[in-house]
Amino acid sequence: MPTHKTFNCFPDTKLLLWNITETAETLSQNLHLTQKSLDRLRNMKSEAHRRGFLSVRQLLLEQGYQDSDLFYDEFGKPHLVDGKHISISHSHEFSAIIISDRITGVDLELRRDKIAVIADKFVEPTFILDKNNPDYIRKLTVNWGIKEAVFKIRNEKGISFKDHIDVKLFEMEDKKTTATLHFNKLQRHFDVYFEEIGDYTIVYLFEGN
Ligand SMILES: CC(C)(COP(=O)(O)OP(=O)(O)OC[C@H]1O[C@@H](n2cnc3c(N)ncnc32)[C@H](O)[C@@H]1OP(=O)(O)O)[C@@H](O)C(=O)NCCC(=O)NCCS
Repeated sequence: MPTHKTFNCFPDTKLLLWNITETAETLSQNLHLTQKSLDRLRNMKSEAHRRGFLSVRQLLLEQGYQDSDLFYDEFGKPHLVDGKHISISHSHEFSAIIISDRITGVDLELRRDKIAVIADKFVEPTFILDKNNPDYIRKLTVNWGIKEAVFKIRNEKGISFKDHIDVKLFEMEDKKTTATLHFNKLQRHFDVYFEEIGDYTIVYLFEGN
């Protein structure tokens, strides 16, 4: 029995989460995969990767999409044939997809203390956090997730998480914030939302002007 959660966050958007408890074999049972997907699956080195990939197809099916309705551009960014925007993420035992009329990105992260070790590589100087605050790791994880999700929307070569993406400071209870990408004369704003599900943080965002 599949376990998943649907967030009806906005009328034009569906965010779906799959808790991956099934084997790859079970997850593939009712799927009709394209030859491309079958080739991709065959080349995946880990069972975990295969389960993540297949659970995403289960989420798509849930929304009435076949595997053949999804295609990837040369950068690996997913698209839907009907023109709706889609973004995909998987992390250990969860996978997530977001489908929207708006330009959107999603990222799922398992919260881990070790994110602190690389904080100075991705956190911008204006995002000042108190390392002793109990929410330190939680906020760092949101900051990272935002940047991954922005990158999934605008994956231009040369974007630096630290230098080109600014996140407005927030409290965890806010469950939302904004972010700005400024890169190569381009400036884009994003409305950001985040949730925590157990040990996981899910960030989703929409591109504004
Ligand atoms: C592309 C990227 C964002 C994927 O994130 P990830 O955490 O590795 O993996 P996730 O599970 O969250 O996302 C994977 C999904 O992203 C999507 N994806 C892959 N490449 C993508 C791209 N170029 N653009 C948009 N989406 C992409 C795919 O749908 C993929 O899943 P699928 O192939 O099974 O469909 C990431 O690999 C990346 O390149 N990040 C930027 C690295 C960087 O600049 N780091 C700076 C550190 S300071």
